[in-house]
Amino acid sequence: MRYRHGFHAGNFADVHKHVTLLALLRAMQRKDKGFLYLDTHAGAGRYDLGAAETHHGAEARSGVTAVLNAASTLEAEELSDYVAAIGALRSALGDAGAYPGSPWLAAYTLRPQDRGVCCEIVPAECRALERALGGWRRVRAECADGYQRLPALLPPRERRCLILIDPPYEQPSAELEQATHAIGDALARLANAVIAVWYPIKDERALGPWLQRLEQHLAAPALSLELWIYPRDSRVSLNGSGLLIVNPPYQFEQRAEQWQGELQRLLDKSRHGGSCARWLVRESDVDHAAR
Ligand SMILES: C[S@@+](CC[C@H](N)C(=O)[O-])C[C@H]1O[C@@H](n2cnc3c(N)ncnc32)[C@H](O)[C@@H]1O
Repeated sequence: MRYRHGFHAGNFADVHKHVTLLALLRAMQRKDKGFLYLDTHAGAGRYDLGAAETHHGAEARSGVTAVLNAASTLEAEELSDYVAAIGALRSALGDAGAYPGSPWLAAYTLRPQDRGVCCEIVPAECRALERALGGWRRVRAECADGYQRLPALLPPRERRCLILIDPPYEQPSAELEQATHAIGDALARLANAVIAVWYPIKDERALGPWLQRLEQHLAAPALSLELWIYPRDSRVSLNGSGLLIVNPPYQFEQRAEQWQGELQRLLDKSRHGGSCARWLVRESDVDHAAR
């Protein structure tokens, strides 16, 4: 595997994914009962935007750096929450270039009654993940294949779970199918699991049929959140960021429309982009007999 997330740390897609993740964690915490956070593709846990391994934060300049520069004028509370989390990491480390990965954001947000398991398959990344999570007792790193661990971790004793599936997409079509399989497996073990799958908006020929199959076959409510900052079907680079949210929390889409719109205005400098929150499967369309 050649993918290293550090090169992309803090780019527009990371911002989109991490704002969504924080909003999901907060929504899970509207109930007192604890839950399991499961990160199947965890990465290194945190990154240094001043280091060579992130190309000195090159991609972050049109991502998190642009959001931080607008911090005093942000309107959506989800964006302010994200900025506050980055501030907390930076002051904890005394490092103005630190950027949190999904495991750190979860560790920072979880309450005493919640817990987290973060899986990373590449040994060097996993060592970094263990260091990043070193001070947190509620979240543990596992140097393992997240897809293989999923059946052993579900259903959790809390009977509530938020799962983030964030593969590298070195082989997009195959990895989209693997994610579909993992969703089915997770729902079979815990029908109310909230599952967020990040996907790249890059090649509509792989993405369109995948979303269509989900619309036709998924036996749970599902929403897609998309933010793109380049024309969607140019295959030169990453054009946009998508999150499939299975079993989204109540009124999640209304809030997402607000903060996605604001993010787009901040990040889409050339005005080629867009954003949308779209139901793939509504609660009323779910065939409950099939669940
Ligand atoms: C996109 S990065 C994850 C970024 C992280 N979720 C974040 O938001 O900070 C994908 C990571 O998954 C790891 N990976 C790839 N296949 C995996 C698997 N089957 N199980 C666990 N980790 C895997 C890669 O090494 C890489 O670090």
